[in-house]
Amino acid sequence: PEEKTFALIKPDAAKTHKEEIMKRVKQAGFSISKVKEQALTREMAAQFYKDHEGKPFFEDLVNCMTAGPSVVMVLSKENAVEEWRQLMGPTDPEEAKKVSPESIRAQFAHDILSNAVHGSSNPEHAMKSIAFAFGELDAD
Ligand code: CMP
Repeated sequence: PEEKTFALIKPDAAKTHKEEIMKRVKQAGFSISKVKEQALTREMAAQFYKDHEGKPFFEDLVNCMTAGPSVVMVLSKENAVEEWRQLMGPTDPEEAKKVSPESIRAQFAHDILSNAVHGSSNPEHAMKSIAFAFGELDAD
């Protein structure tokens, strides 16, 4: 059965590698159900990352996520949540280069903070993030 996941190209990569990353998404067989460019507000970034609140990098993370427009997407595919995580690769691009050199983070991420892309960690988070990004707050 088809599954949906929430995916985001972060501002650092949206500026410089958007087309290449979109190409990788399509080549991997995902359907892009929804896509929009949007600069996240601090409130949105804090909401997306509320599980990381209080961590030493939280403030840097919010700054990085609000530095410019992101590409916000809903991706559909069988096993989409896990497959998108595989395609992204590990959080830290140095690790990604070792264990998953073909991954998006291995190829396009600067460092563990500005790591090019985001994806939901499980289907429940995916549904919440999709509703948040494309639901009631979608004022377009
Ligand atoms: P992401 O997969 O979007 O989810 C949480 C984000 O926090 C992660 O990517 C990184 O951008 C950031 N992050 C996680 N761990 C660290 C860390 N140790 N140092 C800096 N940033 C981190």
